[in-house]
Amino acid sequence: MLSDSFGLPKGAPHPENAAAWLEVCGSKAGQDAFNPLKGSIPARTDGDRSLYDAYLQSAMDDFSSNKIAPSLAHGAAASEGWVTTISDVMTLFVADLDVAAAQAGLEQAAESAGMEAPPEEALSGDLEIFSWWTAGGEADGLNAMYGVFSEKYPDVEIVNATVAGGAGSNAKAVLATRMQSGDPPDSFQVHAGHELIDSWVKADKMEPVTSIFENNDWLGSYPPGVIDILSYDGEIWSVPVNIHRSNVLWYNKQVFADNGLSAPATFDEFFAAADTLQAAGVTPLALGDNGIWTFIHLFETVLLGTMGAAKYRGLWDGSTDWAGTEVKQALENLAKMMDYVNADHAALSWDQAAQLVADGDAATTIMGDWTEGYFLSIGLTPDVEFGWMPSPSTDGMFIMLSDSFGLPKGAPHPENAAAWLTVCGSKAGQDAFNPLKGSIPARTDGDRSLYDAYLQSAMDDFSSNEIAPSLAHGAAASEGWVTTISDVMTLFVADLDVATAQEGLVQACADAGMC
Ligand code: GAL
Repeated sequence: MLSDSFGLPKGAPHPENAAAWLEVCGSKAGQDAFNPLKGSIPARTDGDRSLYDAYLQSAMDDFSSNKIAPSLAHGAAASEGWVTTISDVMTLFVADLDVAAAQAGLEQAAESAGMEAPPEEALSGDLEIFSWWTAGGEADGLNAMYGVFSEKYPDVEIVNATVAGGAGSNAKAVLATRMQSGDPPDSFQVHAGHELIDSWVKADKMEPVTSIFENNDWLGSYPPGVIDILSYDGEIWSVPVNIHRSNVLWYNKQVFADNGLSAPATFDEFFAAADTLQAAGVTPLALGDNGIWTFIHLFETVLLGTMGAAKYRGLWDGSTDWAGTEVKQALENLAKMMDYVNADHAALSWDQAAQLVADGDAATTIMGDWTEGYFLSIGLTPDVEFGWMPSPSTDGMFIMLSDSFGLPKGAPHPENAAAWLTVCGSKAGQDAFNPLKGSIPARTDGDRSLYDAYLQSAMDDFSSNEIAPSLAHGAAASEGWVTTISDVMTLFVADLDVATAQEGLVQACADAGMC
């Protein structure tokens, strides 16, 4: 963009007339007379749109929705001195088209304008990053982000401290022990929301990272809702790397085609398809709950599908009754789903369940979109071998969670950790990580063209759907509450006794002090 304007020079011979002229220039009447003929849009925001032709209306729309960049040739981007030295370089270039010489000239011009890139701070020593990302897709994404870091800080040695087990089922206990004994890593993976704030920030174990956001000018680059769940007591406490969706049904396209089925949108459609698949000898729903979190994950999607987003959100602030009929119905739906899962579900992990779908031994699995990262890691292509749908009866709703990294108090290499967090929060870091991880960037300016068909659909849904927080992944409830719910669900997955489970859930809410 560029903008024409009029000014008032010192010593103007008729300053009063000039001031009157500037008033006309700045007025709606002046601008709406001038611009429709000039081929420009008003600088004011209240121009009368009906006076502008099709092109100018399109320019108005673009100006309010596009990313804005300043014009070099027309005085917006750089000082006149810099433009002049660039002009000298380009005068030569238009004649000789010598790219190398022109680039050297442009570098020189930037330097004389005082704009050379500041040298990267030379850092060295170790950087220990703690996470549970060991499965296909997860590990690939993390490595890609390490790659971005190592390019900027080649002398820093990354120590990849992982503890395998989806959703941090093993890692969180190891981390807690380390933190309690004063042996924190430099930075660790933590879910945005209650897990971050209740477990670590309120316990006074974290350093705020607000200054990293401010120094990098990031506050406008993240959705306010995301900043909100990272914030407590006026500070931001971790840097988010992604947004994951939990309520996704992944299905094997060939299995569905072979059985004449289309992807189910509702519980009724799901159960009807499941009957057909079971009759054909295919496991309808793959589950791998060797960690109870996957069963809780399935439960949160069923709660959402049964009661809708508003009531689901109410479960976490005490406004939806855990003793009510919707929770009972959700438990019944969940119990019914268990008629259709693989017999060895208690022995498998989430990625082994996904593998059953990839192999065509099972038709579907309901799991977060790290499953897409896993499918990519074994060479599958979205919309070719596998398809996806919102989990039953959750169309238009998006259960979100966000992985983030924080800076623990007493981190042994705080400067390296701060550099790591700067990569985590950057566009380059997120655009390297997320296309492999199966998540969308937490930033709003990710390069959409790097994301595949599934991830583009997740971007669209995240910006248009009703958002609800994940229970299984630290966004909806404190870790204590999640643990008591886990205890209830550990019994329920074995006995499928709806009444007992509901009583347990009512008690869990009371114990958490929310009911
Ligand atoms: C979630 C985490 C995801 C993914 C998943 C399976 O809790 O947020 O990034 O790793 O666990 O391990």
